[in-house]
Amino acid sequence: MDHWINVALPKGRLGESVYSRFAKAGFPCPEILEPNRKLIFENEEAHVRYFWVKPSDVTVYVERGAADVGVAGKDIILEYDPDVYELLDLQEGKCRMCVAAPEGFSYEGIRTVRVATKFARIARNFYASEGRDIDIIHLNGSIEIAPILGLSDVIVDIVETGTTLRENHLSVIEEIVPITARLIANKSSFMFKKEAIDRIVEGMRK
Ligand code: PRP
Repeated sequence: MDHWINVALPKGRLGESVYSRFAKAGFPCPEILEPNRKLIFENEEAHVRYFWVKPSDVTVYVERGAADVGVAGKDIILEYDPDVYELLDLQEGKCRMCVAAPEGFSYEGIRTVRVATKFARIARNFYASEGRDIDIIHLNGSIEIAPILGLSDVIVDIVETGTTLRENHLSVIEEIVPITARLIANKSSFMFKKEAIDRIVEGMRK
């Protein structure tokens, strides 16, 4: 049986911060902190293997079992709806999923709202609950410029400090859901590697 624990970490600041919580929980791998461009790190003694992946890909690795556990934002979990267990709210990477629009915007007179976003499912569910007709314009980044260029009426995007919106003369018109990072687990790993995963959950709980 494979007693190693494979962990998918989101590349970036959040990933570095949550790594230190895994380390404290008994799964250290100091090599990960060395400045290099490696993507996979192992600690033979602790039987742990970490890999850095694009934040929006963490759920893919965990759902398919390439990783036993991983850390993903609630935004990614809501958008991709992966078949995984969500074990813990890590209370980090806090931000909000919002609808934003140019200052002074109103829905009045708009029959089909053009919504630019990376988060099509979240936007669809939100507007369905509001009973509004929408047309999704799927973009991969720099969402904020869509309403400025007349490509969309509003955007659905992540707001952290609000700086990006402010500097592009947009403001939040509706908050959809607060977002934080979550510890997720592959469903069969959760059965077969329960002991190690329980140790991770307990150690990472603040
Ligand atoms: C996110 C989001 C906003 C920005 C919000 O982008 O899409 O653009 O952060 O942060 P703020 O409220 O603190 O300004 P991210 O940097 O994740 O990259 P992206 O361009 O790929 O969306």
